[in-house]
Amino acid sequence: MKDDEEVNKSDLLGILLESNSKEIIKEHGMSNREIVEECNTFYLAGQETTADLMVWTVVMLSRYPEWQTRAREEVFQVFGNRKPDSDGLNRLKTVTIILNEVLRLYPPVLFFNRRVQKDIKMQNLSLPAGVKVTLPILLIHKDRELWGDDATEFKPERFSEGIAKATKGRLSYFPFGWGPRICIGQNFSLMEAKIFLTLLLQRFTFELSPAYAHAPVIFLTLKPMHGAQIITINCSFKCVQAFGISTFIPSGASKYK
Ligand code: HEM
Repeated sequence: MKDDEEVNKSDLLGILLESNSKEIIKEHGMSNREIVEECNTFYLAGQETTADLMVWTVVMLSRYPEWQTRAREEVFQVFGNRKPDSDGLNRLKTVTIILNEVLRLYPPVLFFNRRVQKDIKMQNLSLPAGVKVTLPILLIHKDRELWGDDATEFKPERFSEGIAKATKGRLSYFPFGWGPRICIGQNFSLMEAKIFLTLLLQRFTFELSPAYAHAPVIFLTLKPMHGAQIITINCSFKCVQAFGISTFIPSGASKYK
């Protein structure tokens, strides 16, 4: 970016360039390459993950129509046919516990790594400096010792009294990471997912198409390998149409099936 160049401050790139140009004056700025890397991080960290959350939620609500009905009842109770607003979104309790449970069973980010800075001892474990530690989010989210015998089942009600109660105060649920590097987009993505679900539930009932094959796969994040084919029934016109909600279909197949 040149000194006299105007930036569009209404998007992320513009804000980043504007803020960076002030830092450059103080000699702490980022290079163009670093700016591009920041944008890539936001795209991957922010877009793919939230899209995965939405897809798995639609799959789960199709598989468990009783939860779809409960979520729709709540949405109509809070918003009727109105557009969602932030006050109402904060009152969506059933939708929130559904999203929590989807993030437990289908966390878009499956693990994250840390490098040990200095020798430490944790109970009977000695970790020397330099060792890389992997925190397997999915394995911990499905651990029977931590979650009970129904650990692998879809039961949003386990979150009905909040995350601390569901985890019994243990660090067994961290779809957004933990500690100083916890996801900065956590609230934003949950808000996005709630808006999406509200608009979807207000307009459609949906079920899994016979074409759907359940095959979670890791492709950077956790996705349905063959996409998610969903049959939607328009709530107002009662007509049936089919469309695929998918974020990843391998082998270059059509995005919408
Ligand atoms: C369901 C949605 C999301 C999930 C599951 C998720 C998950 C995560 C996880 C597990 C981490 C920690 C990685 C680590 O510690 O190594 C992380 C970090 C991060 N996330 Fe998200 N994320 C989501 C949405 C978003 C959104 C919407 C944005 C941006 C708008 C975002 C931006 C970031 C950034 C910039 C970091 C790095 C933070 C740092 O290192 O200080 N994420 N995310």
